[in-house]
Amino acid sequence: MPAPHPKHAAPDHPLLAPIAARWSPYAYDPSRDVPPEQLLSCLEAARWAASSYNEQPWTFLIARRSDQQAFETLLGCLLEANQQWAKQASVLMLTVVQHDFRRNGKPNRVAAHDIGLAAGNLVLQATALGIDAHQMAGIDLDKARETYGIPDGYAPLTAIALGYALSPDAIDDAELQSRETAPRSRKSLSELVFAGRWGTPAEL
Ligand SMILES: Cc1cc2nc3c(=O)[nH]c(=O)nc-3n(C[C@H](O)[C@H](O)[C@H](O)COP(=O)(O)O)c2cc1C
Repeated sequence: MPAPHPKHAAPDHPLLAPIAARWSPYAYDPSRDVPPEQLLSCLEAARWAASSYNEQPWTFLIARRSDQQAFETLLGCLLEANQQWAKQASVLMLTVVQHDFRRNGKPNRVAAHDIGLAAGNLVLQATALGIDAHQMAGIDLDKARETYGIPDGYAPLTAIALGYALSPDAIDDAELQSRETAPRSRKSLSELVFAGRWGTPAEL
């Protein structure tokens, strides 16, 4: 059996395969395109996420590397630090959140939560298909709004890069390369699952 990828999770408890295999690469193969039918599956996975009152407060703006002009336009909405590596990806997208309920115009307190669920679905579907994904908060919000004519009531939230990871050796920048080779870490369950009183780890 081949050795597991060093970036795959080392879980304390068994996980579904795509959850264990997902990580956020910085090196992408610019010569490989995500096939359109697989991209559609990723977006379909987002579409079927749960959401409060089934509001589905998410929209995706998307650009494929194969359409160079569209890709450059979306790339230009990322902060410089993210452009540096995301320019090698096959697909870029922006997520856009609708803050108020369509049903009554009142604020949807959990809209960002729901878009996170949709993005989570998308990324796990991608991973299951052998596509790597990297989400980003580092976007130029004003530029994204202006570039795409995002209307009032909607707000750009994050970006997602999809593609095929390369070995860390493919990265020139020393800082990015050290991030790429750093071990992954997580808080322990006892730090984030409490019972009875805040700060008391749940005994499971
Ligand atoms: C909402 C969100 C925003 C993020 N923003 C950025 C970003 O702007 N730039 C970046 O390089 N990584 C970004 N990341 C990636 C995180 O740094 C990464 O998920 C985290 O370090 C855990 O690593 P892993 O995804 O490999 O498990 C973001 C991730 C998420 C979910």
